[in-house]
Amino acid sequence: MMLPAFFEEDRIAVDASLGRLMPAETMQPPSIHTAMRYSVFAGGKRIRPILCLETARVFNPDVAAAHYPACAIEFIHTYSLIHDDLPALDNDDLRRGKPTSHKKFGEAAAILAGDALLTLAFETIAAAPVDANRRVAMLTEISVAAGTINGMVGGQVADLEAEGKRITPEALEYIHRSKTAALIRASVSSGALCAGATPGDVTRLRNFGESLGLLFQVTDDILDVEESSAALGKTAGKDIAQQKATYPAVHGLDRAHQIANELSAKAIVELAPYGDRASRLREIAEYLVERRT
Ligand code: FPP
Ligand code: MG
Repeated sequence: MMLPAFFEEDRIAVDASLGRLMPAETMQPPSIHTAMRYSVFAGGKRIRPILCLETARVFNPDVAAAHYPACAIEFIHTYSLIHDDLPALDNDDLRRGKPTSHKKFGEAAAILAGDALLTLAFETIAAAPVDANRRVAMLTEISVAAGTINGMVGGQVADLEAEGKRITPEALEYIHRSKTAALIRASVSSGALCAGATPGDVTRLRNFGESLGLLFQVTDDILDVEESSAALGKTAGKDIAQQKATYPAVHGLDRAHQIANELSAKAIVELAPYGDRASRLREIAEYLVERRT
């Protein structure tokens, strides 16, 4: 499908901010900064930062401050991919069509690059040029989403422990909500918070982000079955090989597609009060159902 033009504009703006908010490769010690930059600039879609910026834009046309949470979340996302690819976890050689961090720099450097990106994320949120109360609210939103209680690390643990086992649809939903939806939800809610949204609006956008995040992981599962490694830039078919808990495995491929459509519709309902101001967020929800990478 054709991506809306604002995706490309946002992606270019995000890349410029990421470059500015990260230490230069020449800073001491250069090897860690080189490894951090290698993974951040390895060709990610930037879907989380784009969501953060476009949510902020619903409430404020000036999204300069929202670049801080947007980049912070991309740092956390990148750390999670570097660590997920390590031999002790998914043991993958290929990510976004390039050698994974540990293949390129060795395991020690990959572990430390992930640690450093996670830490840089919180430094970046703390530096956002908005009111201190809003910075603290963003820190809470994002750290909870990355953590163990219904957050990314908790979901990753449950995912590992479910490998090779039969799993209930409820347990599967818990894994996907925690592992992937939480950080996507925080991309949306931190964008709203940064742009001065009211508590009622933040709650509404959080619900939008939660459905969208679950949708994102359901389509990730579908793509692992339907697409080639070349198209995805990572090893396709790994979920079945590793007996992973996925929507196609638990519900079948047809039902998984149906669930994806239902989640997109559920997300879009939350945007009703914002009318045309939310048309870009609607386009993102539609894109996430149809995406092929
Ligand atoms: C692909 O994102 C990534 C996911 C669908 C998230 C999967 C979750 C984990 C790997 C959690 C790992 C957690 C730990 C703590 C190791 P994407 O398609 O946006 O990737 P892109 O940035 O390459 O486009
Ligand atoms: Mg994994």
